[in-house]
Amino acid sequence: MSLNFSQFIPTIPFILQGIGVTLKIVASAALLGFAFGIVLALFKIGRIKLLTWLADLYTSIFRGTPLVLQLMIIYFGMPQMIGFEIEAFPAAVIAFGLNSAAYISEIIRAGILAVDSGQREAAMALGVPYPLMMRNIILPQAFKHILPALMNEFITLTKESAVVTVIGAMDIMRRAYIVGGDKYAFFEPLLIAGIIYYILVMILTMLGKVIEGRMRKSD
Ligand code: ARG
Repeated sequence: MSLNFSQFIPTIPFILQGIGVTLKIVASAALLGFAFGIVLALFKIGRIKLLTWLADLYTSIFRGTPLVLQLMIIYFGMPQMIGFEIEAFPAAVIAFGLNSAAYISEIIRAGILAVDSGQREAAMALGVPYPLMMRNIILPQAFKHILPALMNEFITLTKESAVVTVIGAMDIMRRAYIVGGDKYAFFEPLLIAGIIYYILVMILTMLGKVIEGRMRKSD
């Protein structure tokens, strides 16, 4: 075995700079996925059949094809259709956001269905309008149930973001790969990348636990 970490110490700052890129992609995609996921979930449980059908079709397509394919279609394929190129960052945010929305919509749908039907009946009996009921009564209760599942999704998103390497975004993964190519040794930089991803996920996990604890206390 010929591991030599000392030659990689000067490259660590270069790899660390990828954290910002990764986090920006993940945070933007999570926001997009969450917002769109709520809309899709409402369509799915709503009474308008066409919207339910469309939301189900959407989920089936985005869950039924590889994320890396969706990313490559948006980055390499779309310019052919829309007539201009998309940069790696927005392409990644769009691909991850749309993909995540499919998963998040199912999480939120399950959360809404898990809220006791008495809550809905009481709101309706009191004449609370549907949008208000959803926003102030049903969704806040649903979120408490689904927080662990949502955290899971954000963790998945953080790790899956490494596939942006294929479109050249300078995230943690791509930087590690570049360093590997530069030094003709991949093990060490990839290990460094692995440690960084692991720490990021641990931080996310801790954050989730803190939020969960706070929500429990507010009960
Ligand atoms: N590798 C999976 C795929 O290509 C990951 C999908 C993303 N998963 C998620 N929960 N957002 O389909």
